[in-house]
Amino acid sequence: MTTLPAILRTVGELRAATASWHLQGLTVGMIPTMGALHAGHLALVEEARRRTDRIVVTIFVNPAQFAPSEDFGAYPRTESSDVDKLAGLGVEAVFAPNAAEMYPAGYATTISLAGPALGLETEFRPHFFAGVATVVAKLLIAGFPDIAMFGEKDYQQLLVVRRMVADLRLPTEIVGLPTIREVDGLALSSRNAYLSAEERRNAVTLSATMRSVADEIRAGAPATEATMRGLEMLRAAGFKPDYLALRNAETLAEPQIVASEPLRLLAAAWLGTTRLIDNIAV
Ligand code: PAF
Repeated sequence: MTTLPAILRTVGELRAATASWHLQGLTVGMIPTMGALHAGHLALVEEARRRTDRIVVTIFVNPAQFAPSEDFGAYPRTESSDVDKLAGLGVEAVFAPNAAEMYPAGYATTISLAGPALGLETEFRPHFFAGVATVVAKLLIAGFPDIAMFGEKDYQQLLVVRRMVADLRLPTEIVGLPTIREVDGLALSSRNAYLSAEERRNAVTLSATMRSVADEIRAGAPATEATMRGLEMLRAAGFKPDYLALRNAETLAEPQIVASEPLRLLAAAWLGTTRLIDNIAV
């Protein structure tokens, strides 16, 4: 018989649950999510299960990381089926607050970022990382988990969160896990649900293009030429790319010596009204 996770709605309840686990000498893993859980999220839960004694999954569609023109209203909200999936994995608690609990009246504090937050996503979604870092900091400060798990699918987000946690000296280890993909290569994302059947068929071009650009760079092609060709391939398949860029995998700065730096290829592109992001190691 599966036991349903405890549903915590307030920061006080989250604080009490994790404090009591810590008092018993148990370790705590946190997986911050916006819900609409897919196999990528569940892989994070399974890894947290291997590493910690108690797991709390947070489900909060964070208004602070959406611009007014973005899909905050349309973002899928599927709490009861999410909770069922988590029950199947033995998750002890789900923290699912409302917006007033996270941002009480008069709320006026936001984390300001530089370093890995500069460029790429920030060029197209300037509000995004301040919203993400602020809510993640609030979640980590509320729960003080020993580890928090994030997918590499949001690679820039992972580096921003790591930097923020190091800079604020928060006592949580940030663990990143490789992107989980559909069999055809499309990275799993809650936003894939927006794709029409035809767009879903075309969506495979994003990861295929990235693999081909990465192969060219590995074979010695200049990065600017390879990424230009990649952008053309995406446009030919009906995408409107925001960026396709090669960056230092640790800092996200533009690479200086391609032959000797750890490199990551990152992309964001629109397919109809859906914005897809992806990244791969080069
Ligand atoms: O990756 C996400 O789902 C969100 O950006 C996060 C980390 C849960 C913050 O709202």
